[in-house]
Amino acid sequence: MDNLINYFLNKDPVGSFQEWYADAKKVEQNPEAMTLSTVDLNNNRPDSRTVLFKGMKDGQLTFYTNYHSVKAKELDENNEACVLFYWHVSKRQVRIQGRVTKMTAADSDKYFNGRDRQSQLASYISNQSSPIADKDTLMKKLSDADQKFQDTQVPRPGNWGGFLFEPYEFEFFVYGDYRINDRFLYKKSHNDWIITRLQP
Ligand SMILES: Cc1cc2nc3c(=O)[nH]c(=O)nc-3n(C[C@H](O)[C@H](O)[C@H](O)COP(=O)(O)O)c2cc1C
Repeated sequence: MDNLINYFLNKDPVGSFQEWYADAKKVEQNPEAMTLSTVDLNNNRPDSRTVLFKGMKDGQLTFYTNYHSVKAKELDENNEACVLFYWHVSKRQVRIQGRVTKMTAADSDKYFNGRDRQSQLASYISNQSSPIADKDTLMKKLSDADQKFQDTQVPRPGNWGGFLFEPYEFEFFVYGDYRINDRFLYKKSHNDWIITRLQP
């Protein structure tokens, strides 16, 4: 096998991803920022935005969002997605293809209840991706919710929760000198991963 596989990576891409993420956490400012790409089937066009990677669960990547947002609607129609991590200081990139499903309500509750109150309120008041007249209207929603839940825990809105992203393809990229970059593609085949070195 290519000796760089042994140096940079191992046979299991989920393990390698976790190792790279642990490395990134030591040096990157915002290692958890990942670009999530979905497809808008109505217009047959790609769509991307940043979300925060919130750790692995049973070999799947987790993130949280509003279930009525544009991304969630796109995922309802077509659960194929791609996530991308770019770690500037580490000179590394990881591209992952996968399929997305909703997390259980109990797991979403667990995460939501552990968030700070301001974040909980922000999720509670936002009809994410819907228009709003102005910032004052938004701030009024926030202060109303703040009042409403002054003495109680902010409840997780039913339209807010987690997604699980199940990977079936990884590409690990490391910048090399003179643009001779190293790229390794892992494709899932039954229970194995087929590894291929790609040209830069
Ligand atoms: C650094 C960063 C982190 C973000 N994290 C999240 C996140 O974890 N969940 C989320 O719903 N939106 C997050 N956002 C906002 C999204 O990029 C996006 O604007 C929002 O989710 C609406 O996307 P949509 O209209 O495609 O659904 C983040 C934005 C940035 C810049």
